Amino acid sequence: MNEHDLGNNKTIDESRQGEAIMVTSETNNGKKLFLESYGCAMNFSDSEVVASILSKEGYTTTRDEAEADIILLNTCSIRENAEQKVRVRLNDFKNRKKRQPGLIVGVLGCMAERLKQNLLEEEKLVDIVAGPDAYRELPGLITEVESGQKAVNVLLSRDETYADISPIRLDEKGVSAFVSITRGCDNMCSFCVVPFTRGRERSRDPHTIVEECKDLFNRGYREVTLLGQNVDSYRWNMTSKGEIKDANAPTTNFAELLAMTAEVSPLLRIRFSTSHPKDMTDEVLHTMAKYPNIANHIHLPVQSGNNDMLYRMNRGYTREWFLDRVKAIKTILPDCTISTDIICGFCGETEEEHKETLSIMKEAKFDFAYMYMYSERPKTLAERKFKDDVPEDVKKARLTEVINLQQENSLSAHKQFVGKTQEILIEGLSRRSEEHQVGRNQNNIKVVFPKTALPIGSYVQVKITDCTSATLLGEVVNL
Ligand code: SAH
Ligand code: SF4
Ligand code: F3S
Repeated sequence: MNEHDLGNNKTIDESRQGEAIMVTSETNNGKKLFLESYGCAMNFSDSEVVASILSKEGYTTTRDEAEADIILLNTCSIRENAEQKVRVRLNDFKNRKKRQPGLIVGVLGCMAERLKQNLLEEEKLVDIVAGPDAYRELPGLITEVESGQKAVNVLLSRDETYADISPIRLDEKGVSAFVSITRGCDNMCSFCVVPFTRGRERSRDPHTIVEECKDLFNRGYREVTLLGQNVDSYRWNMTSKGEIKDANAPTTNFAELLAMTAEVSPLLRIRFSTSHPKDMTDEVLHTMAKYPNIANHIHLPVQSGNNDMLYRMNRGYTREWFLDRVKAIKTILPDCTISTDIICGFCGETEEEHKETLSIMKEAKFDFAYMYMYSERPKTLAERKFKDDVPEDVKKARLTEVINLQQENSLSAHKQFVGKTQEILIEGLSRRSEEHQVGRNQNNIKVVFPKTALPIGSYVQVKITDCTSATLLGEVVNL
């Protein structure tokens, strides 16, 4: 299996999959919670909401699953192998439960939503199943289990955004935080399970978003990533049908929201994910150009370079439209980098269609890409309408070709930085050497440089001296 085809997504590295969260509670009820997260940034962000809700109930968290009274897994359904990993974990807990009969095991997130009651019945070892819109109900669900019942709540909501819940942050270093701006997705890409697991798209009140950013900044955070499945469709005070919800409240689009968050402080770096090629406007690009603290990086998933494939995928744009958006980015923001997502071996993909994916990669010159083999998901449009007919070995071979090409592209993109001086936000010590610090430039590329006396969360100017396809290396200037 290739590293690019595991359950990882967006800003969450493979090394963080299955990460446990740590908090202490002011109202200790003596019970310990082990909370593990899989999948995309949205799921990691939701785990912070869950931690906040349960810490108010007196739970403290632990990194040691052996001492847990309750184990919650926040799960992902995006590809078959993402679910497989969680099933392995659930089986690990089976024996534990025999030895520790009081232990409560719960499944949260996208698998909970997709598999619902089946998880309780088939797996037997699960006590709680809670979908992404049911986390406020968790304390009640736990009480039900303590009184001897199984507990399930997978109701999806049209308006839950957890806007009033102040998440407990996963990032112990206190530098970078996720802030959810929309939930759900209305796009119905034919390969994708997300609309079924996360429900209808809804936007969160912009004032609560700005307040959360201000609070993070005051607590020392220097970077926020605004999260949504399609950030460009953020629209406050409008229903998805375009009707105004409250005539007295102003409407706010994504470009306006970006500006509002950028104005919190010039020292707060703003990132966002994910942009949808069909909806990304020039207004967003001009707003990025206006505020130096909005990072020069856009994650713009292309999926395929062939028009018939894009049509079958129901992506709502053509190859030409996508390349026009790339051109607009390069024109309005010459220093902006673009990353993407690519699926290999989607239903009916011919060799010629695959070649067009390679050619769009060459034309768009993506700086970075997440690359996957197509994995059929139950209930999706593709599962109902098309045959998953590209053989596994062909999917694999195409993925390898795509990965090799991307490695070349990433290396030549990184070479462009050599000799340039970049503003780096320090994130900590390098994992490989205590003599080096590591941070990211505006373009979201990792930069390693000799250790300074500056603490994490500081900005430093680094002259890039060398690079690999994954990292930039440099020396600090003007200390
Ligand atoms: N909302 C984001 C994507 C969320 S899922 C967007 O529209 O871009 C992240 C990525 O997982 C997708 O971009 C796609 O490349 C990949 N993906 C989604 N469903 C998949 C499937 N069934 N098989 C393989 N990859 C898939
Ligand atoms: Fe899935 Fe498409 Fe929505 Fe992204 S935009 S979450 S790929 S349906
Ligand atoms: Fe996975 Fe659900 Fe995110 S399916 S990618 S955790 S929205």
